[in-house]
Amino acid sequence: MKVAITGSSGLIGTALRESYEDDGHTVVRLPRVVEDVNGVDVVVNLAGAGIGARRWTASYRDVILRSRVDTTSSLVAAIERARRPPKALLSASGVSYYGDRGDEVLTESSVGGRGFLPSVVRQWEAAAVADIPVCHLRFGLVMTPAGGVLRELVPFFRAGLGAQFGSGRQFWSWISLVDAVRAIRHLPGAQGPYNVTAPEPVRNSEFTRVLASTLGRPAVLRVPGWSLRLALGGVAGDALESIRARPDRLVEAGFRFEHGTIAAALEPLRTR
Ligand SMILES: NC(=O)c1ccc[n+]([C@@H]2O[C@H](COP(=O)([O-])OP(=O)(O)OC[C@H]3O[C@@H](n4cnc5c(N)ncnc54)[C@H](OP(=O)(O)O)[C@@H]3O)[C@@H](O)[C@H]2O)c1
Repeated sequence: MKVAITGSSGLIGTALRESYEDDGHTVVRLPRVVEDVNGVDVVVNLAGAGIGARRWTASYRDVILRSRVDTTSSLVAAIERARRPPKALLSASGVSYYGDRGDEVLTESSVGGRGFLPSVVRQWEAAAVADIPVCHLRFGLVMTPAGGVLRELVPFFRAGLGAQFGSGRQFWSWISLVDAVRAIRHLPGAQGPYNVTAPEPVRNSEFTRVLASTLGRPAVLRVPGWSLRLALGGVAGDALESIRARPDRLVEAGFRFEHGTIAAALEPLRTR
């Protein structure tokens, strides 16, 4: 099979590429402005400027939006132009679609939320519409020692500076990188939104406790929400907002999780 990937140098893109190549498939690494997907079987769209990478100034908010919508639009135009179009498009999205929703259980049929990120995700999904089956991958926080949220937090926890954020009651929806890649490979041909999240979202307090105990370090500190907002600006919302997503459609599609609990997902950190 021939698979084309945008954002192929990223956290998920790198792992997905390796997974397909290990199984003998051909992977084409697409540029940020996509021109040609003729003869490709499946396209996976993972491009987007880092959400947690910088303070959200007005100009960086524009980069966050445009890097997703413009790449997706150029990809869709290339699909429409292709003489032999791909059979399926899987396009990244995020559980940020739902916004800050407390303890409410959020499935794919829940309405979207309000605010900057929900609006970005809505526009991103709206750009990913084509005459082939399109699946919107609403990723939770991707857990891997190789990058993402764990690469940011683990050094603090190892130094005994692990801390709960705000009240700690906010739910984090998450998925291990291993399962994120397996889910993408499970879904070609699927249509519409899929929560790509583990079945058990965790409260931040529980995440903090399990991460500290996996690393054998204490985590008794609390970072008040206001100081996190002061230090990080809008990006602090990701850590403080509560999104309790449930992967109903992934489970209905017969997907079986390798890492069903946060303890299982964090276990690889124990030996590092
Ligand atoms: N990781 C998570 O926890 C998580 C959670 C929810 C949603 N997502 C979404 O899933 C997608 C993949 O996640 P990831 O963690 O693999 O992201 P990542 O590591 O940040 O990689 C994203 C890739 O997008 C491309 N890119 C960077 N800046 C860009 C720009 N200005 N314009 C166009 N493309 C740009 C780069 O690939 P190239 O250099 O190859 O073009 C980059 O490697 C992202 O869109 C992300 O928002 C991720």
